[in-house]
Amino acid sequence: MDEMIRIAVVGTGDVAMDHAAALTSSGPVAAKIVAAADTDRTRLDAFLAKHGAPAGYDDIDELLARSRPDLVYLCTPPGLHRDQALACLRSGASVLVEKPPALSLRELDEIAAAVGEPPWFATVFQHRFGRGQARLKALVDSGLLGRPLLAVCHTTWFRDQAYFDVPWRGRWDTEGGGPTMGLGIHQMDMMLDLLGDWTEVRAVTRTQARRTETEDVSLAHVTFANGAVASVVNSALSPRQESYLRYDFEHATVEVTHLYGYRDEDWRVTPAPGRDDVLAAWQAGLSGAGDVAAAQNSRSGHWAQFAKVLSSLRDGTPPPVPLEESRRTLALVAGIYASAATDRPVKPSDVSPGAPFYDSMAGSRAGSG
Ligand SMILES: NC(=O)c1ccc[n+]([C@@H]2O[C@H](COP(=O)([O-])OP(=O)(O)OC[C@H]3O[C@@H](n4cnc5c(N)ncnc54)[C@H](O)[C@@H]3O)[C@@H](O)[C@H]2O)c1
Repeated sequence: MDEMIRIAVVGTGDVAMDHAAALTSSGPVAAKIVAAADTDRTRLDAFLAKHGAPAGYDDIDELLARSRPDLVYLCTPPGLHRDQALACLRSGASVLVEKPPALSLRELDEIAAAVGEPPWFATVFQHRFGRGQARLKALVDSGLLGRPLLAVCHTTWFRDQAYFDVPWRGRWDTEGGGPTMGLGIHQMDMMLDLLGDWTEVRAVTRTQARRTETEDVSLAHVTFANGAVASVVNSALSPRQESYLRYDFEHATVEVTHLYGYRDEDWRVTPAPGRDDVLAAWQAGLSGAGDVAAAQNSRSGHWAQFAKVLSSLRDGTPPPVPLEESRRTLALVAGIYASAATDRPVKPSDVSPGAPFYDSMAGSRAGSG
């Protein structure tokens, strides 16, 4: 790859406006935004003016043919991700897609079939990339915390009716779900990043307060291959908003409380009696693994992930978060919806090819697309 990474932004709405600048200021790897595309000319013009991109298009195929980007930052509504990702990959461009990577596991597997080495496919799950998560992963790997026993994973956010009234939100065929898919997916991804493969989920979903085709709250119990169990809540109707993750290990409780991004001071470690060595190790940032030194930034966020994505592109290695890892998170979302709809415990094999919830997060729900 040339020294300068050529980036195109497709979908120049809220997320692109807020975060695209971080692509070109994310550390040692040089990158520039060479083009942008949006079907809404007003939004496109505002983006071009703010980010100084030289070329604007209303059509992704034209952008790919003329601007030949190395990387496309895909910020369109989720219902477009599969087709647009395939167009990028087939043109040879790698893809960095905003969550959720696709509407269903089937769509994600269709994308997987078009991925090469390069072109790569990565999903934005920016909260994996703050220093606290890296430090915790390293401590887990070192064995100092002991076995993970219990986790709490709460995304209790507030979204008013106007949020759901945006045409692509809260619909199975355009968003692929409600707050489980659209909001809580970040905390669940952080939890899976730490605890690994899940083996069973039991869930309920409810539509308590918003006019929406999907749920506005979900509750789940998740079992992990390592024996840990977790309680998960995803809500769009909680006036006191919070993102909360708690892990009870044999030798310490580790918690992080934040909203849309954490800093070092948002983490709390409570050692088990007689295990002050764990607290000392946390405070020193000591670890048996190498990622802590690389995570210079305390704050989780797009900037932190983008820096790693650009380094990976330069080095010819898979940029984070790779498809197989975002697939595991999407499978848990499918599992929650499947369990809630069927009133049964669900295993990963229950959302595999051939199963209704593999094809669509709406699965077997009557009347859903
Ligand atoms: N990582 C995060 O924390 C985070 C936060 C919010 C949203 N998101 C995700 O980012 C994505 C975009 O969300 P948003 O809030 O910016 O939405 P948005 O509606 O503000 O922006 C989407 C843009 O895509 C454009 N668009 C629609 N059809 C298009 C097409 N065919 N070609 C090109 N452009 C097209 C729209 O005109 C709009 O400007 C979603 O997947 C969402 O889930 C991620």
